[in-house]
Amino acid sequence: RPELLAARAALGIGGGYAGSPGRSLALVPTMGALHEGHRSLIRLGREHSDHVAVSIFVNPLQFGPGEDFSRYPRTFDADLEVCSAEGVSMVFAPAADEMYLPDRQVGVTSGQMGTVVEGAFRPGHFDGVLTVVLKLFNLVQPDVAVFGQKDAQQLALIRRMVADLNLPITIAGAPTVREPDGLALSSRNRYLSAADRVTALALSEALREGARKSRPKDILHAAHAVLDEAAAADPPLVLDYLSLVDPATFTAVTDHHQGEAVLAVAAKVGSTRLIDNVVLTLA
Ligand code: PAJ
Repeated sequence: RPELLAARAALGIGGGYAGSPGRSLALVPTMGALHEGHRSLIRLGREHSDHVAVSIFVNPLQFGPGEDFSRYPRTFDADLEVCSAEGVSMVFAPAADEMYLPDRQVGVTSGQMGTVVEGAFRPGHFDGVLTVVLKLFNLVQPDVAVFGQKDAQQLALIRRMVADLNLPITIAGAPTVREPDGLALSSRNRYLSAADRVTALALSEALREGARKSRPKDILHAAHAVLDEAAAADPPLVLDYLSLVDPATFTAVTDHHQGEAVLAVAAKVGSTRLIDNVVLTLA
């Protein structure tokens, strides 16, 4: 991509004289419809690097049949304003036919870890995510890439891909940004009606209640109590999963697990599917 190489050169990134490493670049991959969560990633990118690049690409490969690819919010002009307000140096927003050859064959597979928890409900999703993220890494060639803890399994799989494929890049994880009432920010929140939004609060509330307990059984029980109540609300919360997993592998933790664990939840409210998670430390 000559325009990406030219942009890198204009910013003085890498590829300098021998012994001069040049300026560093952080990449924040997004699907656009940028919100305060994305902004926090951009700010973290700047802490790590001289320049921040944002990619905006609604990746068809990571959406299953019947998912919301065609109605995913596309707010490109507003996104550019966010990037400019945040001092982003480079925005990469390719068209789908620029990213994927019509006869493409090769992609990244996410392995067993891509088939559990969120992957069990979205077959092929993480293969699509890892494939596009590797392509974005190769195109933009950042020193650092920033991902949100909001998508905890995605972040864990990207760290796994970097380790398994020896990618020369540092991954930075950013904490989840929430509304004052606890709802995790998401591009999909704009689908929620006022009534949906009230029911949707049960996701973060369940995680908070779970986090007050210390044994896996009690954690799950407390969180389920909140989700059960929301399942009887109008509109109802329809639970996909509530799982307490190891943050690196996303396998279920045992009753004797020590150290960090991720309590992850996914549910539909109306026609909107939401995910959230919290990191706990089990003693
Ligand atoms: P998207 O949903 O646009 O999210 C882009 C990045 O923002 C992800 O790293 C995500 O974890 C982070 N993010 C979203 N909501 C957040 C919140 N409330 N707080 C903190 N970070 C948040 O995730 C994707 O796009 C795609 O799968 C992508 C990685 C771009 C590959 O297509």
